[in-house]
Amino acid sequence: MRHFILSIFTIASIASSTFAQNRIGTGEVDKLYQSICASCHGEELRGGLGGSLLDKDAWKQVGKTQSFMDYVKEGNLEMGMPSFEGALTDPQIRSLEIYIDEVIQKTAREDQPLIKEIDGVYSAGGYQFKVETILDGLNRPWSVVFFSEDSGFITEKGGNLRMFCGEELGDPVRGIPEVWAQGQGGLLEVALHPDYPKTPWVYLSYSASGGEVDGKAVGMTKVVRGRISNNQWSEEQVIFEAPLELHRVGGAHFGSRFAFKDGYLFFSIGDRGSMEMAQDLSKPNGKIHRVHEDGRVPTDNPFVNVADAYPTIWTYGNRNPQGLDIHPATGELWESEHGPRGGDEINVLEGGKNYGWPTITYGMHYNGKPITEKTSQPGMEQPKHYWTPSIAVCGIDFYEGDAFPEWKNQLLVGGLASQELHLLEIEEGRVIHDTIILHDVGRVRDVASAPNGYIYLVLDKLGKLVRLVPTDSFE
Ligand code: HEC
Repeated sequence: MRHFILSIFTIASIASSTFAQNRIGTGEVDKLYQSICASCHGEELRGGLGGSLLDKDAWKQVGKTQSFMDYVKEGNLEMGMPSFEGALTDPQIRSLEIYIDEVIQKTAREDQPLIKEIDGVYSAGGYQFKVETILDGLNRPWSVVFFSEDSGFITEKGGNLRMFCGEELGDPVRGIPEVWAQGQGGLLEVALHPDYPKTPWVYLSYSASGGEVDGKAVGMTKVVRGRISNNQWSEEQVIFEAPLELHRVGGAHFGSRFAFKDGYLFFSIGDRGSMEMAQDLSKPNGKIHRVHEDGRVPTDNPFVNVADAYPTIWTYGNRNPQGLDIHPATGELWESEHGPRGGDEINVLEGGKNYGWPTITYGMHYNGKPITEKTSQPGMEQPKHYWTPSIAVCGIDFYEGDAFPEWKNQLLVGGLASQELHLLEIEEGRVIHDTIILHDVGRVRDVASAPNGYIYLVLDKLGKLVRLVPTDSFE
C-alpha cells in the first residue's frame, strides 16, 4: 500500500531553520533595522507606515527594476520611503538585505512546519523512510567512511578512530597521532585509499600542535596516512604538514575534508580565523590543496611556479570548507563551505580559481556587522548555491546507492546549526532544487552514501551514527 503524506516540502532555492548559529534578531544589524527601518516597516517587518517586508513578491521595484541597494539609497520620496544615501554605508545596506532574508525565512518556517514525523516514518523527496540508530554514545563524531556494506571507520573529535561492523563499535585504534583538540580542532576526516583494501592506506586529517609562539599555543591542519591491522596504526607517512611558522593560534576553521580523483588527493584547510589570509597565496589556510596520494606536490599545480605561493594550493578564497566530493558522472569537485552569517556556499572547484572570501560573500559577521556589500567581482567565482540564513553547511556526499534510486547522483548535504539533511538536485552543473529531507535530527556533521545503499548521518552532539532506510516510495 502506498501512503501519500503531504509533508514533503521542496524549496526551490534556499532554506534553513535553526538560529543557534545565525542568531537572527541579534547584533548590530538588528539594532540598525530597529532604529531606522522599524518605525515604518514594523518591529517584525510586518509593515506599518511602509509595507510589510516579508513578502518580496509584493515589492514593486526591488528585484524587478532596481536592486535593494539602489532602492534604499534613492528611496521613493513620493511614496514616503526615505533616501538613505549618505546615512548608511553600502555594507550596512547589504547587511540589512541579508537580515530581511533571514527574517522572511524564519517567519515562513514558523508559519509552516516542514516535515512531520509520523510513527517514526518520515517522507520527503518522493520516499518514505525510517531513521535507525546504528551507533550511540560516540563522543563528538566527525567523519565516517565505509569499507564494506555496513562496516567502516568513524572519527571522534577528541582523538579516537574506531572501526565499526554493523552496530558493533570497536575500541579506539591504537597508535594514531596525537591531536591538538582545540575549539573546532581535533581528529577530523578519515578516508580510505580508492583501492582499499588492495592498497590499504587509511588517511586522517587533524589539528596538530605547533607548540607555542610568544607564549601562545598554535596549531594547524595536518594530513597523514597509515595502515591498520589488529586495531593498531602503523607505517605512518606525513602527507601534508605546514611549517611551524605558519601554525596559527585559536581553534577556528581547520577545514577539513578529503576527495580522491585520478591519483590525486584534494583536501581543505579553513582560514583559521584569519580571513584575509584566504586571499594570500603564500599561506596554506583558506585553501583547497591538491597532492599526489603519497603527498608529493604535482608539478602542474596552478601556483607551483608563482614566487612565494604555497605549491599545494588548488583553489583559494575558501573560508571553512567542511565538505568535498567528486560528482560521480562529471568528475567535478564539489565543495561545501561554512560562510559567515548568511553566506554558506556550495561551489564547484576548478584549479587556480579564487572563490572570493572575504572580498565577496553573501553573508555578514555573526554579530550582524557588515563585512562587505560585494557579492560578486570579476575574477572571483560565484557559488552554485548559497544559504541565507546559514544552515552551517557541513559534510556532503553524492548519493550513489540503489535504495533511493530517484536520488542517484544528487548531492546530500548536512547542516549543523539547522540540524538538517538537504538534497540538492543538480542539472548540468546547476543546483535546480534544494529539498529538506530531514530536520531537527541533531547537528549533521557528516553524511555518507554507504555501499548498502542507505544514507548514514554522523550526528555530532548527539553522538550517534544513524541511517535512512526506505520503507516505501511514491510518484
Ligand atoms: C518613513 C517611513 C519609512 C522608513 C523609515 C523606511 N521605509 Fe521602506 N518604505 C516606506 C514606504 C512608504 C514604502 C512603500 C513605497 C511604495 O509604495 O512604493 C517602503 C518600501 C520599502 C521597500 C519595498 C520596495 C519595493 O520595491 O516596493 C523596501 C525593501 C524598503 N522599504 C526597505 C526599507 C529599509 C531597509 C529601511 C531602513 C533602512 C526602510 N525601508 C525605512 C517607508 C519607510
